Amino acid sequence: MAVTSEPRAQEGGAAPRHRSATRSLLRLWPYVRPVRVRLFGAAGVAVVASCLGLVIPLVLKWMVDGPVAHRDPGGVWLGGALLLALGTAEAALFGLRRWLVGRPLASVEAAMRADLYRHLQRLPVSFHDRWASGQLLSRATTDLMLLRMFLAFPLTFLVVNGVTILAGFAILLSQEWTLGLVLVVPAVPLVILCSLFETRYATVARTVQDQTGDLTTVVEEGVLGVRIVKGFGRHRSQARAFRALSEQVRSTELHKARLLATLWALIMTLPELAIGAALVLGTVRVADGDLSAGTLVAFLSTALTLRWPVESLGFLLAMSQDAATATDRYFDVMDAEPATAADRPRPAPAREGGEHGEHGEGGQEGAESQDGQDGVGGLRFAGVEFVYADAPPEEPPVLRGIDLHIRPGETMALVGATGSGKTTLTALVPRLHEVTRGRITLDGRDITALPRDELRALVAVAFEEPTLFSATAGENVLMGAAGAGREELLRALKVAQADFVHALPEGIDTEVGEQGLSLSGGQRQRLALARAVVGGPRFLVLDDPLSALDVHTEALVEAALRRVLASTTALVVAHRPSTVLLADRVALLSEGRIAAVGTHQRLLRESAEYRSLMSGQEAEEGERSP
Ligand SMILES: Nc1ncnc2c1ncn2[C@@H]1O[C@H](COP(=O)(O)OP(=O)(O)OP(=O)(O)O)[C@@H](O)[C@H]1O
Ligand SMILES: [Mg+2]
Repeated sequence: MAVTSEPRAQEGGAAPRHRSATRSLLRLWPYVRPVRVRLFGAAGVAVVASCLGLVIPLVLKWMVDGPVAHRDPGGVWLGGALLLALGTAEAALFGLRRWLVGRPLASVEAAMRADLYRHLQRLPVSFHDRWASGQLLSRATTDLMLLRMFLAFPLTFLVVNGVTILAGFAILLSQEWTLGLVLVVPAVPLVILCSLFETRYATVARTVQDQTGDLTTVVEEGVLGVRIVKGFGRHRSQARAFRALSEQVRSTELHKARLLATLWALIMTLPELAIGAALVLGTVRVADGDLSAGTLVAFLSTALTLRWPVESLGFLLAMSQDAATATDRYFDVMDAEPATAADRPRPAPAREGGEHGEHGEGGQEGAESQDGQDGVGGLRFAGVEFVYADAPPEEPPVLRGIDLHIRPGETMALVGATGSGKTTLTALVPRLHEVTRGRITLDGRDITALPRDELRALVAVAFEEPTLFSATAGENVLMGAAGAGREELLRALKVAQADFVHALPEGIDTEVGEQGLSLSGGQRQRLALARAVVGGPRFLVLDDPLSALDVHTEALVEAALRRVLASTTALVVAHRPSTVLLADRVALLSEGRIAAVGTHQRLLRESAEYRSLMSGQEAEEGERSP
């Protein structure tokens, strides 16, 4: 299990350290745009509410210097009523703000999550090979939640508190500029400290979020692999790995908290000191008679009103920084190129010409293709080379110089030692990976020129690992073809010898559970096979689809497969001689090249490698073969 201390996903992302938080956050605009009226409305309401709070000290000043000084009870009542009205209005406006932003922001989060999910589905397999699923999961959950919280709260309040602070300082300076200066001066070191803090905090915030992603990966693997963990008694070491990682997250969180605490201490202390100094200075001046008591009251209560906006700046900035990091992490994924573009630049592919007429035997069958380019029917690999994007450059390509032609209606078995590239070759046909050189044609049409949905309708696949989804057995099979109905479903189940589903508690409507783990390995393989044949595809690519079947079931599936294979063009990866016998011809893949093509018999005679691969049963199978 990949317990890495270095966040694995970082390699996929751009270096986030040097990006400014504002620039990152601005990228949210397309999502915020639809709700901008409400969001700005809410911010406007909050600004008004906050500024109402600033009027209160002015009323106080009027009361102290007016009705209180002249002992006029009517005036005091009036002032009191005014203060009550102002306070109520402020509270009501803040309530209105909350109501305004709640629902639209939930929809922003939902839209971003939907986009992320859609994008993840479109990203090439090579992307998913590279990224840990926990990193993706944490982006779709924690990071998006951080973003919604940012839009709901810190964003508004950074604006509101900023405006309030400016307005407040303007009031302070206009009332008594000398005292005002006493308060304004400490703001300078505060601003410098905040910007220093931002850079350091950004680094820590990113680390925490990446580590959380790694933690998610460990949890996910532990849950999915619970059988292995239990079977090998690995729960202790698994728990230890988890603890180590969560310890790491904790210590980074603590580092973050310490940074925040230092900043807060400064942000809290400096204004207190300044207010204290202003109080002393103001009292002395009132005593000297060159300042009215009302002005001092108004001044101090304005300063006290400004305490919250100033003090909140610390955590508002911190939350914004978290949100900026979350945005970066979100766009790390969203910026990855979807599968339409080639996974890596193709170095001068041998696309046009070169191979025409080389395989003349396919010429006449090419008539079947509607807009065939080279008139060769069937499935054809021409000069195909493939390199995994993350393979070390000095390593030879996994596949090179693959020339293979599977004639229409023919079944070709693909045989090779483990790790020789069979699975890789099959994954190229439905374009799960893009060839790095050469081309693959279906009835003469280059697969890169085919629209993806057409390609997927033409080619059906079943892989070594039969993946099922948490859905009913029937739904899992019908996934294989858009628009297939009950009739096709029943036929496919029959062909794949998957009639066992009828015996399940609710027949084809039985939920097969997460990954189909409630089924046996052989049952899962047969359902996956049914999914491959349900659409009656022209081309069938099967990666060792019979590996988990017992001998008896295998014979049944083979008998059924023989019927399916008769009507399609198929490439079947085979490990056992019995599977090979389903095929008309066999291709031997050896170290990334097609070493030999021919009938089973011929290869047994002519290829020592083939003989050794088929060894053990070769003599017996050899006699049985047609
Ligand atoms: N996603 C990947 N990224 C990088 N290298 C890979 C990837 N998948 C497979 N490989 C490498 O490509 C080579 C061929 O793998 P492949 O799965 O095609 O073998 P195979 O012939 O199907 O083996 P088996 O018979 O065991 O299924 C192996 O050396 C493997 O390590
Ligand atoms: Mg394989």
